[in-house]
Amino acid sequence: MTTTVKIIVLVASAQIAFATIKLQEHFEWNILDFDYADENVKIRDLFTGRYKPENGLPVGIEIWKDKFFVTVPRWKEGIPSTLNYVELNSPVKNPSLIPYPDLKSNELGNCKEGLSTVYRVHADKCDRLWVLDTGTYGIAETMQSVCPYAINIFDLKTNKKIRRYEFRPEDTNQNTFIANILVDMERSCDDAYAYFSDELGYGLIVYSYKENKSWRFTHSYFMPDPLKGDFNIDGLNFQWGEEGIFGMSLSPKTKAGDRLVYFSPLASHREFVVSNKVLQNSSKVGNSYKDFYALNEREHGHLTAKIMDEDGIQFMNMIDKNAVGCWNSKYVYDSKNIDIVDKDDVGLIFPCDLKIDKYRNLWVMSDRMSNFLVASLDYKEVNFRVYFAPINVLLKDTVCENKKVIKVHEPLEQFAGHKLVFPYLGSENLLF
Ligand SMILES: *[C@@H]1O[C@H](CO)[C@@H](O)[C@H](O)[C@H]1NC(C)=O
Ligand SMILES: *[C@@H]1O[C@H](CO)[C@@H](O)[C@H](O)[C@H]1NC(C)=O
Repeated sequence: MTTTVKIIVLVASAQIAFATIKLQEHFEWNILDFDYADENVKIRDLFTGRYKPENGLPVGIEIWKDKFFVTVPRWKEGIPSTLNYVELNSPVKNPSLIPYPDLKSNELGNCKEGLSTVYRVHADKCDRLWVLDTGTYGIAETMQSVCPYAINIFDLKTNKKIRRYEFRPEDTNQNTFIANILVDMERSCDDAYAYFSDELGYGLIVYSYKENKSWRFTHSYFMPDPLKGDFNIDGLNFQWGEEGIFGMSLSPKTKAGDRLVYFSPLASHREFVVSNKVLQNSSKVGNSYKDFYALNEREHGHLTAKIMDEDGIQFMNMIDKNAVGCWNSKYVYDSKNIDIVDKDDVGLIFPCDLKIDKYRNLWVMSDRMSNFLVASLDYKEVNFRVYFAPINVLLKDTVCENKKVIKVHEPLEQFAGHKLVFPYLGSENLLF
């Protein structure tokens, strides 16, 4: 009896000790639930196995106005919808996912009108949502291509699809697995490019919105480091030695007028960089080996998604550390200039995506992906979590803080201490 009590106390205090300090939890799900407009259809789908809640794993997020997007790949059967959203100000912490733009538009195998599998998405400043449909069903040995890879762009104001572009056959290969998307907009909405990281086919695909054309770069820097394929996450040891280019981030404009695209392979401790002007130039394909640069190795391990803010601070998901890290790109890429902004050994197991909203909050989702893929999830526990914090709060007392650039206003402190219901959402008169 006494022993049991002691163990419980120990576990409880351990969880407190490693809980996030700056990041505030906003959503949490044990298991995903989908919102069907018609409850009878939902019951029928549950009964026939067309809907299997235990097979859903959220992997990508995005924020646009009061919509919080959540993507769910069709890695297993029974996923009714791959592109979804919830209300940002939902009164519950585990809202049901609402198919976007609707259930019909998420039909598996309907290449022209539907979406088969979506990983990560991007909302741009012109109120467009960039969505890559991988056209796949299943994962690894079970993966089938039911549709070609296609970019789908939605107008978020009308919820209408405004463009669909199929990748050329040369843009992909038989190993292609596109994990991430980066959108680069120059002077106008038309002058936009999207970059796609081919994690298992080792390529970087560029799409020009204006030209409605795509091309593919290959480079040895997209490949994994053969010595960095061993992973230890949440007590699980496994090998993901084939995982190449994954996370990408885009710098502010440099003095030369270009922007830098930073990227890192998943099975690697290294960061690489290339100018966006190189990627945007299709005649550089096959002729750009020396335009890509390798930065130093970091001691912080493997990264999934990353993002850079307008001050040049890169935030990245450190999966070995159950943490979100930062690097101020004004300083050399070096372990001493890289820091952890927050960590949580329970809540941040496998941080899988992160985004910055227009109010300069960083949002991060963790999903225990390695447990889901390598072992299994316990649906009695919280498995999927979404956290956020104002960037200035996250950077405080880290090596990434740049006091000359970042003004920390006193009223910000109130946001760090307690759970809030967006006092600043919808207000244009922000304090930061
Ligand atoms: C873009 O190209 C595709 C063919 O690859 C075509 O089907 C589509 O209509 C084009 N879209 C625009 C807006 O030109
Ligand atoms: C694109 O790359 C080619 C080959 O390196 C170069 O000759 C050309 O000037 C580049 N174009 C632009 C717009 O930079």
